[in-house]
Parts: sequence; structure tokens; C-alpha cells
Amino acid sequence: MYDFKTSIDRTGTGAIKIDFAPEPVKGSGLVPLTIADQEFAVAPEIVEAVKKAADRRVFGYTYADPEYKDAVLGWMKRRHNWDAEGFRLFATNGVVPALALAVLAFTQPGDGVVIQSPVYMQFAHAVRSNGRRIVENRLVEHNGRYEMDYADLEEKTRPDDVKLLLLCSPHNPVGRVWTEDELKRLGDICVRNNVVIVADEIHNDLLMNGAQHTVFANVPGMADHAVICTAASKTFNLAGLGCSNIFIKNEELAEKFHAVCDKLGGGLVPYFARAATIAAYNECGRWVDELCSAVYSNFRMLRSFVEANLPMLRVIPLEGTYLAWLDMNALGLDNKQLAEHMLKFGLAFDEGDLFGENGSGFERWNLALPQDKLVVALFALRKAVEALKK
Ligand SMILES: Cc1ncc(COP(=O)(O)O)c(C=O)c1O
Repeated sequence: MYDFKTSIDRTGTGAIKIDFAPEPVKGSGLVPLTIADQEFAVAPEIVEAVKKAADRRVFGYTYADPEYKDAVLGWMKRRHNWDAEGFRLFATNGVVPALALAVLAFTQPGDGVVIQSPVYMQFAHAVRSNGRRIVENRLVEHNGRYEMDYADLEEKTRPDDVKLLLLCSPHNPVGRVWTEDELKRLGDICVRNNVVIVADEIHNDLLMNGAQHTVFANVPGMADHAVICTAASKTFNLAGLGCSNIFIKNEELAEKFHAVCDKLGGGLVPYFARAATIAAYNECGRWVDELCSAVYSNFRMLRSFVEANLPMLRVIPLEGTYLAWLDMNALGLDNKQLAEHMLKFGLAFDEGDLFGENGSGFERWNLALPQDKLVVALFALRKAVEALKK
């Protein structure tokens, strides 16, 4: 058994979540529930591999060599039943940079790019900051389950200047793991309307309670129309090592992506990221299984606590990611008031409206933390809600 109980002191490491937390949280003893990295220690096998790499005493430039590629492709095959052999692999310093690279590679200024809100805020940023236009295909919620709106997608993708869709699969923040059928319906609409799909699958391993992830390239007919973005970082808590793996099969798309990467520089696999990724993918499958169990156990605790103590709040079911999605609209506060009120009780969440207008009144709650820390946060939440009744 690996250790998902011990708290790690991250203060003074420059950690955004900890060292840059809002002041009221810093003094509260509570762990901020923001930013999608984990409070769990990295798997010992990975720590050992990084230490060994440090012992070599030269931290030079490194590319994706055969050992690295074998580890990445091996994981995709074993874990996701996906043979990525015929795909070109691009190493980028993160999936976020890859989203921006894709926007630059596959669209022109002013073109439309579809995003499915509420969605990870960097999707909108990648579009807007590169002078492209956001085309919103909002997810719709039916009794706590978020679904895609295909009729709206058909309409939004029809204009010729809508060229790209950024898919979040599994979906941050609503916790959906899209089924093959759902992905096929989305894909068929995009293909019919000449829209390239960039599938951000960074949460692909974070599957709860038996959920199954479908690699978009494995959906019949989709491999040639898609860019698949993966990384070991989210799964294995390696975000600070800055490394991700982008797969493209279609040669024309690959050439366009390559041209932008070439122009902006890059293509390296950072030295320590290489060592960590090889160890993660070759040796740490069981660690991921235990991580998912620990996260889901936290989710169950959150859900039963809220049901028993705070029935006016709604906890959206979690199929994938370690990010719970809570509907706090019943508290009657606007987003700013909600954030300020929670902070008074030491609670820092990612406010729902960061992910789109239809995330308003929700909070995203990072569950990758030891359970005793979660318990403290749950009692703080109860206090925060009770204070509103007075
Ligand atoms: C959907 C999604 N994509 C990308 C990222 C970050 O990617 P990276 O750290 O590789 O740039 C996150 C982080 O939370 C995410 O949730």
C-alpha cells in the first residue's frame, strides 16, 4: 500500500496553491482546495528515478528518446488500449502550451474555436489571447449529470470560419468521463463540418468507481481528425516538471503543428521530466489505482457529509478527475460574495464562474488531499453555511 495519508509541507517551495494562497487561508491551517495539483507525495519509484538522474550531475538538453517513447506508448497501450504507434509524438512543456499551439496551427485570427463550458479556464484563454473567437457550446445539466448539446454543436460548427473544437475528456470541472457514443456523436458533427478536434486528455487516468476512459483517437473514424493531448503530470503529480505528450496521426495536421512548434522553439523533454515519466509509466500503475481509490473515498465522504449536514448544496457525481463540482447557488450569494464569505472560514475554492458563465454559483473542490485535511475543510464549510443563517 502506498501512503495517501501523510501531509507534505510545501511551504517555501513557490507552490502556487500554498505560497500564493489568499491571506486568510494562509493562517487558517486549512489546505487550499484550489489549483489542480495533489497534496499527496509523488510515488517513491519516481522520487528514486529523479534522485538517480540528479546523481548523474549533468542536467542537459534532452529529447524524446526510444526509452521515453516506449514508456509513454506502453502506458497508452496497457492502460487505455490505444496503439499510438502510427502517430507523431510532439513533446511540449505542458498541455496548456499545446492548446495555444493548436489554436495557432489550425486557425487564423478571427476564426471561431468551440469550447464546452463550464470548462478549464485555459481553454478560453488559449482562444482569446491568440485573437480567435470563442464559440460556446454549453454543456447542459440534467439532474446532476452534464451532457453535450449536439443540436447546438451542429449549429455552432456549421459556419466555415469555425475551425477547431477544444474537447476536455475527462471533463474538468464537471467530472464527466465521456462515453464512446458521446464522443462519436461529437466527432461526427465536427468531421461533417470540417472542424479539427483537440482532445485534452490530461485527466485520462483519474477514473472513479469503474469509469472507463475512451481515447478520442480510438473512436471509430476519428484518429485522422484529432490531436490527442496527454501528460503524466496530472496523474502522477509532476506538474512542476513541465512536460506533455501530444499525438497526431494526420500528416497535414502534424506538419501544421510542427511548423508552429518550430517557429516558437521547444520540442525538448525536460531532463527530470524524462526520468520521472519513464518511472511513472513503467512502474507506477498500482500507485494510480490507489490514488483513484483515495480520491473516490474523499468524494464519498464529501457527498455524504453534504447530504447529511448541508442538504441545500448539491454535489455533482464524480466519474473522473480529482475535482468535485459543488452547486452552492442555494446560498443566495453572487460569485464574489461567495468567495469572500468562504475565505473568512479559511476555505479557498476555484470559483465556478472562472470556468464560464454557466459555472456561476458553483465551487470546484480539489479532492487530492489526505482525508484528515478534508474533514477539517468539511467542518469549516458547515460553519460557513451556518453563519449565513444567523
Ligand atoms: C483540462 C486540463 N488541461 C490542462 C491542464 C494543465 O496542463 P499543463 O500543466 O500540462 O500545462 C489542466 C490542469 O488542471 C487541466 O485540468
